[in-house]
Amino acid sequence: AAEAAAAEAGSGSPFARLGVIGCGLMGSGIAEVAARAGLDVAVREIDEPALSAGRKRLTSSLDRGVRGGKLTEADRDAVLARLTFTTDLGDFADRDVVIEAVAENEQLKADIFGALDKVVTRPDAIFASNTSSIPIMKLGMATSRPEQVVGIHFFNPVPVQKLVEIVPSLLTAPATETAAEGFVTGRLGKEVIRSKDRAGFVVNSLLVPYLLAAVRMLESGFAVADDIDRGMVLGCAHPMGPLRLCDLIGLDTIKAVAESMYEEFKEPLYSPPPLLMRMVDAGLLGKKTGRGFHNYT
Ligand code: CAA
Repeated sequence: AAEAAAAEAGSGSPFARLGVIGCGLMGSGIAEVAARAGLDVAVREIDEPALSAGRKRLTSSLDRGVRGGKLTEADRDAVLARLTFTTDLGDFADRDVVIEAVAENEQLKADIFGALDKVVTRPDAIFASNTSSIPIMKLGMATSRPEQVVGIHFFNPVPVQKLVEIVPSLLTAPATETAAEGFVTGRLGKEVIRSKDRAGFVVNSLLVPYLLAAVRMLESGFAVADDIDRGMVLGCAHPMGPLRLCDLIGLDTIKAVAESMYEEFKEPLYSPPPLLMRMVDAGLLGKKTGRGFHNYT
């Protein structure tokens, strides 16, 4: 019933049609949360295999909700009915809000923003990026309407973490910022904090040096992975230790975020340590590949 009421509330209202670009860990979570909140959600992936993997990820997460008693089977089916999957960006013409959630690659994201600018017809549409670290200004400048481009940064796992960072660039219009905040709090039920447009924003500026310090601690032989993680779980009541959290986020993402922050501030504490680089080279990306600092098989 709650899902049906949410669906009712979502239809015909100002920002009811969402487009999500990328259906990886973050994109699928964002699409799930939005569809559960009653929005009409279109999800775009680059090709059919990526699209079907994304759809599977999203469906498994909903199935987990059914198993855990958070959703009925009927709710799950109603959520799935609000989702459409496509490889064609042209299908985003009627979207009110688009959130880009592809890999942390500036050129890739800028190309997507340039293409979206040509496709989306609503004059006051919101163009958002879920980037963790790439300045929003760079993405805004890839469009002809930087005043409508804003950072809307979610946290992993998206269905669980309440926080979203709202990041206006120097050119983001106050109306866009207000609309983005209203969308995130009113529509998606998340809580927001604001950050200036600096690589890493608020949370990663604090989190990433800590995660990299844990990798350096392991690399130098100071302590073993289990002890580093247990130290922070049992000593500081963190829900998971830093190396397990690296595995959850994905080592490729941590590397990309650290590189953006290093490029911006040139602070050694942001530079990715060699062990992290080698693990990414080896494809040991964490939970999503079955092995990172811990094993998941
Ligand atoms: N989807 C939906 N629900 C999920 C989920 C997922 N992927 N993972 C866990 N949950 C839910 C479970 O269903 C469970 O809900 P109930 O308590 O209502 O039953 C709850 O979360 C707890 O899950 P578990 O009991 O399975 O496991 P846990 O207690 O070990 O929690 C965790 C898992 C939620 C991941 C928790 O360890 C946690 O919060 N860890 C820290 C995660 C974190 O710091 N995230 C931020 C990363 S930084 C980032 O994302 C930004 C960036 O830019 C890099």
